[in-house]
Amino acid sequence: MVLGLLSIPGVIKAFLLCSGTGDCPLISLQELVDLKMLQCKRVVNGECSPGPGMVCAQLARGGMGAALLSDPDKIEKILSTLVKGTHRPVTCKIRILPSLEDTLSLVKRIERTGIAAIAVHGRKREERPQHPVSCEVIKAIAETLSIPVIANGGSHDHIQKHLDIEGFRQATAASSVMVARAAMWNPSIFLKDGLRPLEEVMEKYIKYAVQYDNHYTNTKYCLCQMLREQLESPQGRLLHAAQSSQEICEAFGLGAFYEETMRELDARRADFLAKTPEGTEEPTEDTTGIIKMAVRFDRRVYPPQVTPKMCLLEWCRREKLAQPVYETVQRPLDRMFCSVVTVAEQKYQSTLWDKSKKLAEQTAAIVCLRSQGLPEGRLGEENPSLNKRKREAPDQDPGVPRGQEPAVPGEICKKPFVALENGEESLLEGW
Ligand SMILES: Cc1cc2nc3c(=O)[nH]c(=O)nc-3n(C[C@H](O)[C@H](O)[C@H](O)COP(=O)(O)O)c2cc1C
Repeated sequence: MVLGLLSIPGVIKAFLLCSGTGDCPLISLQELVDLKMLQCKRVVNGECSPGPGMVCAQLARGGMGAALLSDPDKIEKILSTLVKGTHRPVTCKIRILPSLEDTLSLVKRIERTGIAAIAVHGRKREERPQHPVSCEVIKAIAETLSIPVIANGGSHDHIQKHLDIEGFRQATAASSVMVARAAMWNPSIFLKDGLRPLEEVMEKYIKYAVQYDNHYTNTKYCLCQMLREQLESPQGRLLHAAQSSQEICEAFGLGAFYEETMRELDARRADFLAKTPEGTEEPTEDTTGIIKMAVRFDRRVYPPQVTPKMCLLEWCRREKLAQPVYETVQRPLDRMFCSVVTVAEQKYQSTLWDKSKKLAEQTAAIVCLRSQGLPEGRLGEENPSLNKRKREAPDQDPGVPRGQEPAVPGEICKKPFVALENGEESLLEGW
């Protein structure tokens, strides 16, 4: 069995997308599971496969995990508690210790906790990826234990193509292999038929990234990993300079693909919105007199230059009302934000909390607009006066970018709404 382990959310996405046709039945994710991933189903050859449903304790990573390696009592306690506390199989990943004797003693104690399998990164805690991986120590562990041992650390020196994975498994006498960097450099490592050319893999990856709305910084990171030594090439320089998915596409000659995909996605969104009944959430007024609705701001359903806050400001101006005032609080527990907007002495608020102050303000503006049946600026919605205003020279103050002052936990951030000239918002911030 071949197993992939990677933790950076965008890398995970890249990895899942690109390995879709490969021979990698299990992908291990650590605690950083992207929300978008949670909403996805993995489809393998047309069938839907359930997630691995496994708990993995990682004692191999630099920092706290690896530091634990010198405290076997604590390791044993943690693993025993985990094994007893869940009906799912618990696995564990370690690095090797300075001496073989200590390593074997540790893995035997780990095995006794009842874990289902152990992954061994064949390097010591202080060793870097360029240090040779110790196949002999992994082999000694595999020969000592009766639970499955997963060999790890072979990328570069041992694993450069699919066939090498089995070679590494044999060299370590392990039952399976976990691949990280080699999969990041070229995800087609999992194809039994052999590696696909990098240009082909990168193009396929970029197309997936655009179609599935991957954030460009993740896409860029993954492509940099694939380009590696070629980062100084003209294409590498273009990639390095890219500041959006569109610029990444252009760097790879996929500008037309980007445009076309955006048109398709916009059309699909507009179509979806047209079919989605709006205002299903009835506004309610609570005892404090605040009008509340369970809504959230989704940037994707608005044209690039339009936001609910702009619509609300525009409406207030037309009605000769004072401009909206937003008061935002941050909940210390999970650092989520909630904003209350006051318009004509009435307060409006969403019952749902947001990841950033900017998002919370947009959400509050939606509650105000929606509860009054006003246009919010969503795609497919008519709002001619707003568009007209944008074409004309806007009289908003462009000098103060919104939401740049961080909200201190528990603190109320009170400030009148100031719209940017270009209406630009960093809406993925905090995603
Ligand atoms: C992008 C990336 C993310 C990783 N995340 C984790 C992690 O969350 N936990 C962990 O124990 N190791 C992590 N690793 C280390 C790998 O699992 C692996 O131990 C190491 O890269 C050696 O395997 P390789 O030679 O196949 O790359 C990560 C490695 C990479 C490249």
